[in-house]
Amino acid sequence: MERLNIAVLVSGGGSNLQAIIDALQDELNQTSIKCVISNRKEAFGLKRAEKYGIDAHYFGLGNFPDAKERTRQMLQLLKRYNVDLIVLAGYLAILEESFIEAFKGRIINIHPSLLPKYGGQGYYGAKVHEAVIAAGEKYSGATTHFVDKGVDTGRIIYQAKIEVKEGDTPETLAQRVLREEHRLIVKTVKDIQERVVLIGN
Ligand code: GRF
Repeated sequence: MERLNIAVLVSGGGSNLQAIIDALQDELNQTSIKCVISNRKEAFGLKRAEKYGIDAHYFGLGNFPDAKERTRQMLQLLKRYNVDLIVLAGYLAILEESFIEAFKGRIINIHPSLLPKYGGQGYYGAKVHEAVIAAGEKYSGATTHFVDKGVDTGRIIYQAKIEVKEGDTPETLAQRVLREEHRLIVKTVKDIQERVVLIGN
């Protein structure tokens, strides 16, 4: 089976990226992380990449203030790496439509709720868990989905459901959801690697 070349886009700590890196030796042994890109220069995710000798690139307002130029340069780099799949792992910048078009059906995202609930504009990071708790939800979880031109609206691939516990704070819930995310992102990339989940259509 030919290898799956991926790029991982991060904005923060990169724990989902780390979960993918940790799986490269076994579940993801036919996958190569060709590069990691962040819109934030100081994202710890870039440091995680560098530690594993993975090319790490900053594309943000600091070096590419013009969004169209930034997108063009990112696409050029990704094509040079012959990337098959883009994985958004805690990536908080909005991708230009031209980027989505260029990788139609080949961009996945991980979101810390059971979409379509608690997704879309304004629902990211702690805000998701605050809203879930405020609404008295009995369950929450994580979702992987294809990225389309909306925010968190693309076709759902997998979901992991967990109970919201009595006395949960946004922090304790976030921690349990994040553990599910790490499991789900690896499962999703693995099934794409093995053509159980098809991309590009
Ligand atoms: C996580 O809450 C994840 O749900 C969201 O971004 C946050 C940071 O993830 N996608 P990471 O630790 O940077 O992977």
